[in-house]
Amino acid sequence: MSNRDGKLAGRRILITGAASGMGRAIAELFTREGARVALLDLNGPAVLELAKDLQGFGIECDISSAQQVADSVVAAIKALGGLDGVVNAAGLYYSKSFEETDIESWNRVMAVNVTGPYHLLQAALPALRQASSATIVNIASISGYLPMAGTAAYSTSKAAILMLTKSLGFELGPNIRVNAICPGVIKTEMTRHIWEDPARAASTADRVSLKKMGEAEDIAKAALYLSSEDSSFATGTEIVLDGGFSWR
Ligand SMILES: NC(=O)c1ccc[n+]([C@@H]2O[C@H](COP(=O)([O-])OP(=O)(O)OC[C@H]3O[C@@H](n4cnc5c(N)ncnc54)[C@H](O)[C@@H]3O)[C@@H](O)[C@H]2O)c1
Repeated sequence: MSNRDGKLAGRRILITGAASGMGRAIAELFTREGARVALLDLNGPAVLELAKDLQGFGIECDISSAQQVADSVVAAIKALGGLDGVVNAAGLYYSKSFEETDIESWNRVMAVNVTGPYHLLQAALPALRQASSATIVNIASISGYLPMAGTAAYSTSKAAILMLTKSLGFELGPNIRVNAICPGVIKTEMTRHIWEDPARAASTADRVSLKKMGEAEDIAKAALYLSSEDSSFATGTEIVLDGGFSWR
């Protein structure tokens, strides 16, 4: 399939957290499907190298910084000539009991997982408003609705992003659609401590119906659906991809 026949042909999409894991898989799939991409990540060297490979625009950016995000989004819009979509994939995992969660850690998790997408969307909205059919995809988590031991801060941040998705789905129509993906346990850097330990990997796989961890590409395919016209009647909703984790 040539780029011009892709599901995202002609679309200009900004992806955060693009240096690794899901963000990276999304950047690669979206490019194959004809999108031109702007890639933001805290990891400057990795995101610049990927942008070069994909002939996209890459920029080092800490999404918790309003100024860095504003500058990066201006540069991305200039490089792409506008913006048709955003994928908020950057995220920070944190696991400690609530009593052990100090205020610095709590604030950092919220700053990256909740306020980061806030900064990004505030900066991107004027350009998205000019697109005929814009899309926003937020990577949340099953942790956003399913309490698990030691994840109070992370889960609270993901619950917030799910409600932001619903609120904006409600507020930004009809020309901007806003949806979320709730991944279960996916093989990325974030879960290296699980899949590198054979016993932990096996017990993690065993607790889901499909008996495996997900791949970043599984999430990228859902992000493709939500960023293309295939999902033209979907807004304010979420796709759960967890191999059956939530129902055990
Ligand atoms: N891996 C899982 O099992 C899983 C499950 C549910 C949800 N998620 C969510 O999926 C998203 C992607 O995670 P992943 O698994 O691909 O992890 P990952 O660690 O492979 O990638 C996360 C990326 O985000 C970037 N990042 C972190 N903080 C940043 C910041 N302040 N500014 C800019 N970039 C920053 C990192 O540099 C990294 O490139 C995250 O929001 C995560 O919370 C992951």
